[in-house]
Amino acid sequence: MCGIIGYTGRGDALSRVTAGLCALEYRGYDSAGAAFFCGGDVNVIKTAGRIAELIKLTKEIDSSPNCAIGHTRWATHGAPTKTNAHPHKYGRVTLVHNGIIENHAELKAAVGAHPISETDSEIAAACIDAIFSECGDPLLSVRRACDGFSGSFAIGVMFDCFPGMIYAAKNKSPLIVGISKSGNYIASDVAAIISETDTYIELCDGDVCMISPDRCVIIDKRSEEVKRSAAVANVVADDIGLCGYDHFMKKEIAQEPEAIRKTLLRRMSDGAVSFCGDGLSDEYLSGIEKLTVVACGTAYHAGLWAKHYIEKTCRIPVDVVIASEYIYGDPLTRSGDTVIFISQSGETADTLSALELASSRGAMTIAVVNVKTSSIARRADVAVFTEAGPEIAVASTKAYTVQCAVMTALGARIAYAKGILDTHGLRSVSRALTGDLCDAINDVIAREAGISAAAKRYHKSDDVYFIGRGADVCACLEASLKLKEISYVHSEAYAAGELKHGTISLITDGTPVIALVGDEKTSDKMMNAIREVAARGADVFAVCRRDFPRDEAIKTRFELPACSDDVLAIAAQTVFQLFAYHTAKLRGCDVDKPRNLAKSVTVE
Ligand code: AGP
Repeated sequence: MCGIIGYTGRGDALSRVTAGLCALEYRGYDSAGAAFFCGGDVNVIKTAGRIAELIKLTKEIDSSPNCAIGHTRWATHGAPTKTNAHPHKYGRVTLVHNGIIENHAELKAAVGAHPISETDSEIAAACIDAIFSECGDPLLSVRRACDGFSGSFAIGVMFDCFPGMIYAAKNKSPLIVGISKSGNYIASDVAAIISETDTYIELCDGDVCMISPDRCVIIDKRSEEVKRSAAVANVVADDIGLCGYDHFMKKEIAQEPEAIRKTLLRRMSDGAVSFCGDGLSDEYLSGIEKLTVVACGTAYHAGLWAKHYIEKTCRIPVDVVIASEYIYGDPLTRSGDTVIFISQSGETADTLSALELASSRGAMTIAVVNVKTSSIARRADVAVFTEAGPEIAVASTKAYTVQCAVMTALGARIAYAKGILDTHGLRSVSRALTGDLCDAINDVIAREAGISAAAKRYHKSDDVYFIGRGADVCACLEASLKLKEISYVHSEAYAAGELKHGTISLITDGTPVIALVGDEKTSDKMMNAIREVAARGADVFAVCRRDFPRDEAIKTRFELPACSDDVLAIAAQTVFQLFAYHTAKLRGCDVDKPRNLAKSVTVE
């Protein structure tokens, strides 16, 4: 979602700010802007276009400011226009904002604001300006204004009469302070500053801070000065660079085997995976009688995979709920329940709110999360970290694969703790994940040419159907989401047996149907479904087991690697990720930054 960066110090602030915005591009945005001190005043430049447009505007500035803030906006209130783009200047206050100020209408009436944009953010600037008129203290004005805001926000603020100073505040949206030898930064995440410094301070919810070239003052909710310790980012420039790949999505797919191994090998003891080090003892796991998994999008699909595997292996019920539905659905969660939240970013607002709700009901909350410093990681009772590394492409790939692998490992460990799996069984699942699965993914990647050939055959179609059975249905749902989000092809995923209950009416001459056949038990049934759609004209692409019979109903075939049945559907996802990737490329889409989407959805 929106990205914030600010710099004050020696050297050119605007080039640092635009470089930071480029590093935040992956979050998704539709307009960009910057503000800088020039001749004792704050000037604003903005565009409804890409950052490249903003950079052109900065070239027209003949001074070299050393204090600036910048922003990429992902529209929530008001269309993605230049007027609605940030920064917003109201009175003496210039502000950038990520999040939503929910009570903006009341605030607007209370301060009698006359904004020119349609944004809630401009109202926030008006509130700070009104309070500043009364108290004359910039830090306290931001503090008091934030006390009146409800919702999630991270803001960066400059005051006309305080050159060289940037003020910032956060509540439920990420914001860090970066410390470098030449000056100080505020930023939405470490990616924005890592080319300049790896030292940063994580602000807490409720913090308000002021940075100058050589100082950082933080006050808490009681307006008392607090010290927050600095950390060193665990990210190197290579982690957030393309490293020779054309797209981050491609690079991240290639990293899947390494990410799975990195995540699971550190949890391995005597050949068997264990979550004791994460705070999940066998004693605790053995007592789990049901599970709820809550997540959004791709992470939700990893939850569906988990349901399939855990119910089959542990024989306990697993509910999987979309986070936004969980929050407003009055869930049956009670004290003593275990609720697992899956999230790559750890900042997804719906998932975070769901976690808070489950916590307030006394549930034990477990986060399976990729970003260690994220809000979800901090708020959960237990955080099980995935080690996928930074995922930059908006379309989640390696994070999903690792989430599926971790949830499988956790399921196997629960089964072991309950005495359902013995040591041999647990070791064999652990080996399947860190060995078989990784080899299978590498094998799929090595045969990418077959997948790009299939994409060439189908990329002009406007509707694609994925079908499968059992665990393959979960993989189909994720395959369909991936294709939709980056190639803008309409697609749907169905349990193959459901087709004849309605959807088969949509199959006409040439309709692409992609059939995943990973489950041996239902191979025959899948063949029936394939013949049924082929008889109605479907152009069938089978992604199937090697032993799946050849048949004239199948027009294109990609054989899955030989691999443990427990994890085959995870490896199949790599086929679909590459299929979506090549389809998007052939259709001329912006693979890493699909339209309208944000990497981390920090508003409900
Ligand atoms: C994935 O390709 C999507 N862009 C999206 O569905 C994503 O998985 C979802 O927004 C959840 O994000 P999270 O894992 O960071 O919580």
